[in-house]
Amino acid sequence: MNPNQSPIEIVVCLGSSCFARGNSQNLATINAYVQSHGLNASTHLTGKLCQDECMQGPNLSIDGEVHHGVTAAKLRELLEQLGQTTRGRHGTA
Ligand code: FES
Repeated sequence: MNPNQSPIEIVVCLGSSCFARGNSQNLATINAYVQSHGLNASTHLTGKLCQDECMQGPNLSIDGEVHHGVTAAKLRELLEQLGQTTRGRHGTA
């Protein structure tokens, strides 16, 4: 399989600190973005437990790149980049 056509992995930390500091809302925002942009087939959204980086949270990773302190504004930027990446990679969205 061409690795460029594999789904983009979005991994959200669901540990209690990250969840309370914003990932609860971030998860809902990501889900809504994926649904509204038809990205179900080109993304894979999962959660993970605490990675002992709570002080830098809320944390999530996209395609293996870890992002710390993901505010609503930062998440918007990340999702816009994600949309561009999936268009380039899958010809969708
Ligand atoms: S809860 Fe996310 S790193 Fe600890």
